[in-house]
Amino acid sequence: MNDPKQVPTQEASLAGLDNSWLPFTPNRYFQAHPKLMASARGAWYTNTEGKQLFDALSGLWCCPLGHAHAGIAEAISRQVLELDYSPAFQISNPLTLSLAKRIADLAPAGLDRVFFTNSGSEAVDTALKIAYGYQRLRGEGSRTRFIGREKAYHGVGFGGMSVGGMPANRKMFGPVMVPGVDHLPHTYNLSEMAFSKGMPKWGAHLADELERIVALHDASTIAAVIVEPIQGSVGVVVPPEGYLQKLREICTKHGILLIFDEVITGFGRMGTPFAAQYFGVTPDIICFAKGVTNGIIPMGGVIVREDIFQTFMGINAPQYAVELCHGFTYSGHPMAAAAGHAALDALTEGGAITQAAALIPVLEEVIHSLKGEPGVIDIRNIGLAAAVDLQPIAGKPGARALKTFEAGIHEGVLLRFTADTIAMGPPFISTPDELRAMGDMLRRAIRTAMAD
Ligand SMILES: Cc1ncc(COP(=O)(O)O)c(C=O)c1O
Repeated sequence: MNDPKQVPTQEASLAGLDNSWLPFTPNRYFQAHPKLMASARGAWYTNTEGKQLFDALSGLWCCPLGHAHAGIAEAISRQVLELDYSPAFQISNPLTLSLAKRIADLAPAGLDRVFFTNSGSEAVDTALKIAYGYQRLRGEGSRTRFIGREKAYHGVGFGGMSVGGMPANRKMFGPVMVPGVDHLPHTYNLSEMAFSKGMPKWGAHLADELERIVALHDASTIAAVIVEPIQGSVGVVVPPEGYLQKLREICTKHGILLIFDEVITGFGRMGTPFAAQYFGVTPDIICFAKGVTNGIIPMGGVIVREDIFQTFMGINAPQYAVELCHGFTYSGHPMAAAAGHAALDALTEGGAITQAAALIPVLEEVIHSLKGEPGVIDIRNIGLAAAVDLQPIAGKPGARALKTFEAGIHEGVLLRFTADTIAMGPPFISTPDELRAMGDMLRRAIRTAMAD
């Protein structure tokens, strides 16, 4: 296609299929059943066949303000002619500095320093390096271990993969992972918490497993614990009441840093700026990405306790020495910073986080109304996030959810699934009626997927 503005035919859209390798995708299935998006506005995509699809997961949890957001579009068009790039090392620019201030102002008190990355994976690996570096600089260099959690997803860098707990991600790369990592048990238990609304009552005791791990390895060997406050990618696993508080207490008691990976929960998904505020638990480091720019230009980062930053600044070296040998060519990219400012305008002054908070009870009602549908074995929700577990087809894990996904496209909803779990995290700008329509489309898709 020579003219990019010309609407492509279906055949022209597929040129390049034989040269593409898609991430986290069954590529052979995709080659046989390609799905392409053509455009997006608000909470809806239009695919290349002209069908409108409700965006039930805000892209990949990253477009809470919906698509084609006028304020962000305007900000990045202006920025590209103003300052399209400036070096990330030795130099910064006012937009990136002021974005750091706005993010620190939104974060829990005490987390005042922002280090920018370009993705969630980079944010996680950055947080782990900062945690280890901090322990070393304060004379605790034997603290080399990281503790993750089963079922966790922390991206695909070597650090994130190592602390992550998804068997499929660990299977191939196990032998080359960061050594010395241990894992807390996950907190999901169908028989104790099926059809929970919000935080399950059962399970706070699972945080005590951290005491067992400390007793096993000794606190003097552990640098940090990293958890997602809500395990998102595995299908919205909600922490039991009191669980995160206990983790905080145990970490503090043993001088272990607590890292919250808020790549999904950051910037309003819980109806608060960060999940840390929703749960009333302040970690030492927060990882963020996705919603910070509404997913429009890649950006991520970590927000760090001020005294951790000051520990790096206190190194015994001249002022011109680099304190942390780490960073990316595009850290704090001015285009991403422009998108970030416009996204924060909409999330805060524009009221989108408040809008998300108002939708939480609507989503809860919509999603739990699916209880009793054929094959629905669990439903859970917290914040503006929810999941439905489907009865797997015997011997074919994931096939039921794939059928539901295909039926969803027929109905007009774009679903996201992991194994046989359908996860939902609709845009904050959705209307209550759109959420009800999403629920109806999902109901029909489940019935179709269960029918054969
Ligand atoms: C909690 C969490 N951490 C890290 C990541 C990785 O982010 P990215 O895909 O931007 O590298 C994700 C992505 O979904 C995530 O959910």
